Amino acid sequence: MSFRPIIAAPLILVALGLSGCGKSPAPAGGGPAGPQARKTQFVIGMSQCNLGEPWRVQMNANIKAAADQHPELKVIFKDAQNDTLNQRAHVEEFVSAGVDLLIISPKEAQPLTEPVAKAMAAGIPVIVLDRRLLGDDYTCFIGADNKKIGKAAGQWIVHRLGGKGKVVELKGLMTSTPGQDRHTGFREGIAGSGLDVIFEADMKWLEPDARKEMESALARFDHIDLVFAHNDPGAHGAYLAAKAAGREKEMLFVGIDGLPQEGVAYVRQGILSATFEYPTGGAEAIATALKILQGERVPKEITLASRFFTKENVERGGEPLP
Ligand code: FRU
Repeated sequence: MSFRPIIAAPLILVALGLSGCGKSPAPAGGGPAGPQARKTQFVIGMSQCNLGEPWRVQMNANIKAAADQHPELKVIFKDAQNDTLNQRAHVEEFVSAGVDLLIISPKEAQPLTEPVAKAMAAGIPVIVLDRRLLGDDYTCFIGADNKKIGKAAGQWIVHRLGGKGKVVELKGLMTSTPGQDRHTGFREGIAGSGLDVIFEADMKWLEPDARKEMESALARFDHIDLVFAHNDPGAHGAYLAAKAAGREKEMLFVGIDGLPQEGVAYVRQGILSATFEYPTGGAEAIATALKILQGERVPKEITLASRFFTKENVERGGEPLP
């Protein structure tokens, strides 16, 4: 009987990928690691709400590239395919699997708050990326300031339109915090100007929904000066609707995200007049995860800087937000 654990232990370590150099020494006698043993391999669960938009594909790619620099980290990705119930289940699965740390970019604030609180109660640190939850039961939030971006977009639009004009606002999912904050910021940015928001709709961050909403706006209004969409896929959907109606030259289009291969490329092509960068925070999430896993304290909130891109500044790499 007594020889069995001695043979089994190395096999288990190999199966878990935990053998080899640079790891903590195996506990004496081949038994399970005692509380004193220092962990040197970590599993991170990454719960992504959707991979339908290029921006989220980029976020996962940034996380993977940063984690690949650290052989002690293994990241398991789950994609909820824009379904809140799926995402709740994914968080619960990560908790039952006992991951060492959870990163989540939640689809909506309210429904994801409770599963994250349960992860925290189970002793799993949680980094919330880009969209917020309700309350503050998480370890660290990382994201750009959506109110500031919305306000800067509003002020830029007022300036670009010479202080007046008819505007369409295509909003991001209003049960997610970036949609709420970009809307509030935008309205602050245009307050007191002669801009008139003649049509607003929730396009849920999705290009096809933005295109449909824009078709309604075009049918109702025979003149539109500018479309402000809360993300670049939304602005592009609106552009496609206007183009199909032969009206794309009548108006300007402004979006948010500023990916080089998406929004910035649209600015270069003259499709968008401006895009405001929304950094994914993927690399910062891994840097913060490492600190947490090594027992260091991290700030409760990390705010990422943003830039904006227009025809005038795009070749110089855009400009920081004022
Ligand atoms: C992608 C996306 C981005 C947007 C972000 C807001 O799903 O809609 O376009 O900036 O999410 O959370």
